[in-house]
Amino acid sequence: MSILVAGGAGFIGAALCAKLLELGHTVICVDSLQTGSAQAVDRLRTFARFTFLHQDIVQPLNAGQLGQVEQVYNLACPASPLHYQQDPVKTIETNVIGTRNLLELARVVRARFLLASTSEVYGSPQRKPQREDYWGNVNTTGPRACYDEGKRCAEALVQAYHTQHQVDIRIARIFNTYGPGMQRDDGRVVSNFVTRILDGDPIEIYGDGHQTRCFCYVDDMVDALIALMSSDCTTPMNLGSDREVSVANLAHLVGQTLEKPIIVRHMPALVDDPQERRPDLEKCFRVLGWRATTSLEAGLLKTSAFFAQTQENIHA
Ligand SMILES: NC(=O)c1ccc[n+]([C@@H]2O[C@H](COP(=O)([O-])OP(=O)(O)OC[C@H]3O[C@@H](n4cnc5c(N)ncnc54)[C@H](O)[C@@H]3O)[C@@H](O)[C@H]2O)c1
Repeated sequence: MSILVAGGAGFIGAALCAKLLELGHTVICVDSLQTGSAQAVDRLRTFARFTFLHQDIVQPLNAGQLGQVEQVYNLACPASPLHYQQDPVKTIETNVIGTRNLLELARVVRARFLLASTSEVYGSPQRKPQREDYWGNVNTTGPRACYDEGKRCAEALVQAYHTQHQVDIRIARIFNTYGPGMQRDDGRVVSNFVTRILDGDPIEIYGDGHQTRCFCYVDDMVDALIALMSSDCTTPMNLGSDREVSVANLAHLVGQTLEKPIIVRHMPALVDDPQERRPDLEKCFRVLGWRATTSLEAGLLKTSAFFAQTQENIHA
């Protein structure tokens, strides 16, 4: 099958491209390299079935140039608050205009379309666990709005293309995902804790550290995305882990995994930082028969080994 992955040079995208290639598919990766890594793309170039197109999805894609495409995954969008808040207008454009350009392509070539949406569409949720029929609690003008509202509009757009143009759609609401391939300085909590503890630096905990997240290992997420794309479910679906861990607890787990002491520096709470985050995964288990299989401890070990190796390469 010929599959286009927008955002394929990013953290999840590169792992998805690698898995699709391993499964024997032809992969066209479209990426502006805004946050993605050229190194990730270079590694994939060893496959003859892999093509890289250096393009911003805010610019229309040329269906003629791409040839046959049967599936489109849209993962293109910076996922870390540090990155998406650097240029909030661009983040909205990527989610809205970029998603529209990819939907147009899917409409013209009659490809199935999957949107990588996010748990952030629930904002700071007033219900726990969050089920797909919960409409969320989002601040439309806060610092996270460009991402949260951008993704909410992207979901609405995907639904509109389904209703109005019969595009075959999938909507994945991805919860926190971590693992090898993350960037050291991307400001996400796992990469932050692991790299700082490895370096012997203090880790920063924003607020009281009681805010919770559920962390899913990247290989599990890639399997879930492929399973959702292969299913016939056209309504939004939560994907992730439902093991809830406080940020303070995560710090201790990372310290234990690395067998290193942790030094904590307490920082003021971040604006609009959700206090609780846990998906209801009943739908994804019922429809896809999918559950994350990598424990947080095992995933943290692999992630730590990845960062330790990257650090050795830097110092070599
Ligand atoms: N990682 C997570 O925990 C998580 C959680 C929820 C949702 N998601 C979603 O999954 C997707 C992938 O996340 P990630 O963690 O791999 O992020 P990432 O920042 O590592 O990767 C995003 C990729 O998209 C590319 N990109 C950004 N804007 C673009 C544009 N205008 N045109 C072309 N390419 C562009 C970047 O260069 C990068 O390669 C994102 O859409 C994100 O919103 C991720």
